[in-house]
Amino acid sequence: MEKYRLLFVDDEPNVLQGLKRMLFKMKDQWDMHFASGGKEALAVLDKINIHVIITDMLMPGMNGLELLKEVCSNYPKVFRVVLSGHSEHEMLVEAAKLAHQFLTKPCNAEMVVDTIEQALKFRQILHNEEAKRIVSRISMLPTMPVTFQRISKEMENPDYSVAAIARIVAEDSSMSANILKLVNSSFFGLINRITSPEKAIALLGADTIRSFIVNEHIFTEIKTGQIKYFNLDLLRNHTLLVARLSKIIAKSIGLSKQHTDMASIAGLLHDIGKVVLITNYNTTYKVVIEEARTQNKSIWEMEKEVIGTSHAEVGAYLLSLWGFDEEVIQAVHLHHCPNLSVDENAGVLTSVYLGNVFEHRLVKLNENYAIRPIDDIYVSRMNLTNQMGELENMCRTICNEVYGEQ
Ligand SMILES: [Fe+2]
Ligand SMILES: [Fe+2]
Repeated sequence: MEKYRLLFVDDEPNVLQGLKRMLFKMKDQWDMHFASGGKEALAVLDKINIHVIITDMLMPGMNGLELLKEVCSNYPKVFRVVLSGHSEHEMLVEAAKLAHQFLTKPCNAEMVVDTIEQALKFRQILHNEEAKRIVSRISMLPTMPVTFQRISKEMENPDYSVAAIARIVAEDSSMSANILKLVNSSFFGLINRITSPEKAIALLGADTIRSFIVNEHIFTEIKTGQIKYFNLDLLRNHTLLVARLSKIIAKSIGLSKQHTDMASIAGLLHDIGKVVLITNYNTTYKVVIEEARTQNKSIWEMEKEVIGTSHAEVGAYLLSLWGFDEEVIQAVHLHHCPNLSVDENAGVLTSVYLGNVFEHRLVKLNENYAIRPIDDIYVSRMNLTNQMGELENMCRTICNEVYGEQ
């Protein structure tokens, strides 16, 4: 098997020595390179096809940020990790614009190995090289314009509440993904991973969020001007409802609290790849939509035909680079074809799969809409055949609550 090639960059010889010693046990799986600064790192990247870069931030000459900028534009497929002793707010913000993940010093071997292996494990999800380059370049996702408007309006109020901001953020899939990426970076030193956007906001505090938006422009808006053919509001409503349905399905099929939370966030993020595709393949995506309509095929099948990958693969790959839980990544990846999962206890995937299918069946946006069949083989594999009627009824009640009787 081909070894993964990693490049560690730090100006302190002791740190590099420490990493070498600490990661010696990985020598059979990883081909490790070490550089004492940005310039030296670029020379290595020029000669060797590196998969992962792990860099310090404060270095004399070219610092970590300048190095990451170069890597991002010239070697976009490289997985970018910051390993820094500096956890100031400003540093985090700057790094968040360029890195996939952050680790803080001191850091044990297990953390380094876990972070890297988890991201590398999902490399196979995406075969399309162009899409890989596009996804790897993304360090923050553009968000729905309506979310920006709602947040600014809320902030006009001098005593705006964190809870109100949290609610707005939690209704936007891109913003939720961005915030969870930030909060789960090890700069915050959390022991347990946070899966709920509301909790993440509470932890960051309203002032930090305000400063992210107003001063640091860490979040950008989707420019709707060029994508008139796509209704972002419909996508937003769909993902919100799927998050809700996935959550109650997860509860009903007996998932733990932790897995129920994962189902909810995976439901919210299941179509996040569409945001990536729409904003990066603008004119081509228009063809996808038109052809799917004319040929009466599903969007994801048409994406595969026209672009060579689907929003499910793209979304899952992005979340794997950002260090999301494996269950969430799997649910996003296989939400159209759960039977490809080899996992016998894929509860999060099952919840999101059913949440998405029920939403499509129960919310009829137009008369000619073809009803999607449910994968009976998968349902029986998960021993849910007898529960399907009850689950669908429960989802119908929620859909009727949102859209009225259909
Ligand atoms: Fe989808
Ligand atoms: Fe969907």
